[in-house]
Amino acid sequence: MTVHRIAVLPGDGIGPEVIAAGLAVLRAAGERYGLRLELAEYPMGAAGVAAHGDPFPRPTAEGVVGAAAVLLGAVGDPALDGAPRHLKPETGLLALRARLGVFANLRPVAIHPALGHSSPLRPERLAGTDLLIVRELTGGLYYGEPRSNDGQVAVNTLRYTRPEIERVSRLAFEAARGRRKKLLSVDKANVLETSQLWRQVVSELAAGYPDVQLEHIYVDYAAMRLVSDPASLDVVLTENMFGDILSDEAAVLAGSLGLLPSASLGNGPGLYEPIHGSAPPLAGKDVANPIGTIGSVALMLRYSLARPDAADAIDRAVARALTGGARTRDIAAPGEAVIGTREMAARIVSAL
Ligand code: IPM
Ligand code: MN
Repeated sequence: MTVHRIAVLPGDGIGPEVIAAGLAVLRAAGERYGLRLELAEYPMGAAGVAAHGDPFPRPTAEGVVGAAAVLLGAVGDPALDGAPRHLKPETGLLALRARLGVFANLRPVAIHPALGHSSPLRPERLAGTDLLIVRELTGGLYYGEPRSNDGQVAVNTLRYTRPEIERVSRLAFEAARGRRKKLLSVDKANVLETSQLWRQVVSELAAGYPDVQLEHIYVDYAAMRLVSDPASLDVVLTENMFGDILSDEAAVLAGSLGLLPSASLGNGPGLYEPIHGSAPPLAGKDVANPIGTIGSVALMLRYSLARPDAADAIDRAVARALTGGARTRDIAAPGEAVIGTREMAARIVSAL
């Protein structure tokens, strides 16, 4: 039987707590579905700086490349806010994504019927919302050179090549094919050359996907559409920075940033992480919502371990636990009992 080696990077802040919860669910699913898992932990982010003076230290870099998949908690530490760029946790995360070559970041947004109270949107506006953001992850402003800041002038570079746009767009078209066959490509082609190329390349690829209905819109209008008519959206394809911003906005639909999982895919091991950050004020208090991480574990089983049966079982267990009443404080209904990270995970394990 195949042994799946998973590199586990708990990271900083609430990262270790949500990872412990995710691993409890992964182990339970592993037993139930007969998976042989080998888990290897590595430091990342501020924890990497503390252990090895590097937010993406060498042992971590070597550990992730040979893994079947990488599970990450969160990185970020206010103590390193003023640190030089090479010591920042976020720089480590960008280096990890680049090393794995995970050019497509998938962020599914589904609405759980029992969480209507957590979203500021009216239920009738939310009804039927089920979308997938496909964010380009290894290009654009995050990586463009030159970049600099001399205290008077600061520069970042927005650069995209045709192959970078093609590979992520293909993945988005394929994803749309497996869903409701609608693809919304988001850009700022009225102003930016990179967006004009983006629009051109996506339009050319559309010829190969006649069954997928393609629409192009500008990012400002996309931000509005996301809250005014979310149910009209299926797959939303966009570049790195726009995708970062729109996915936090989309989390509001679901009710909490703590709920959303992500999968980052390329040609090697996939990277799975909740979309939230390290939330320093919540760290060590057993209050963080582990569901974004648990959902990421499900995505890992689906995409990297080819076990959709185990992934579906986790998604169902989460849905059942959410319906059951007590929830973490970010999604508890007014007056309802609040439970902690560990208890939330325990309920999902027992629902499994
Ligand atoms: C995310 C995060 C990261 C990003 C940060 C921590 C660098 O906000 O995964 O969305 O901007 O990609
Ligand atoms: Mn973000």
